[in-house]
Amino acid sequence: MSGKSFTRTIKELSPVLFGPATGPERVVYEVRRGEVDKNTKIRYDTTTIFPGLLGRELPKTFGHYHKGVDFPELYVVLEGRAWYLIQRPQKANPKIIEEVYLIEAKENEKTIIPPGFGHVSINPENKKLILGNWIGTGFEYDYQTYENLRGACYYLLESKGRQSVNFEKNSYYEKMPELAKVRPREFPKELENLEFLTKPEKYLEILTIENCFKRM
Ligand SMILES: [Fe+2]
Repeated sequence: MSGKSFTRTIKELSPVLFGPATGPERVVYEVRRGEVDKNTKIRYDTTTIFPGLLGRELPKTFGHYHKGVDFPELYVVLEGRAWYLIQRPQKANPKIIEEVYLIEAKENEKTIIPPGFGHVSINPENKKLILGNWIGTGFEYDYQTYENLRGACYYLLESKGRQSVNFEKNSYYEKMPELAKVRPREFPKELENLEFLTKPEKYLEILTIENCFKRM
C-alpha cells in the first residue's frame, strides 16, 4: 500500500460504529501513505478526519492493532485537536483489556503509541483534523479484531450538543478498566532519531505509559 491513498466512508466504518449513522453516505477520513525510506524502513503517512458526527459518535478511524511485531508508532497533530483511544488487550483474549487511555493532543504535539496498543484516532472538534504519523514497516495491520468486537472498548458519544462527551462501554468486551484521560509528555530526546520505530526492543524502558503520558 506504499504511496497510496484511501478513504473510509460511513458505510465502511459501520462495523465499528456504536449505532447506525443517519444522513447521506460520505467520506469520514482519508489516509495518504508515503513511500518507505529505503535506509530507515520508516514510512510517513497523513490522515485527515473530517468533522461531522456519526450518529451520536465523534468521527473516528476504524482502529487497528499491529500484527506480527509489536511496533510502536509516532503521531503529530498538523491541524486541529486530536484524541487517540489506545487499548492493550490480553494476548490470549482480545475481549479483556488490560489498559485503556484517551490521549488528548494539540497542534504540533507528538504522541507515541506504545508497543502492544491498538489505536483509534478521533476528531473531537467541529473542524478538520490532520495527523502525520511515522511508522516502521514489516508488520501487518489487524483491523479484524476491532471489527469482530464492534470497535474499541469505549465509544465516544456527544451529549448536550458537544458540550460534553460520554464514554460508553462496548458490551462486546468482557472487561476493561475505567477510561483514563492523559496528555502526551514532551517527546524524549533519546527517541528523536526514530530508531525506536523499527527496533522497539532497544527502547522498551523509555516506551512506558509513565514516560509517554501524564494523567489529566
Ligand atoms: Fe497503527
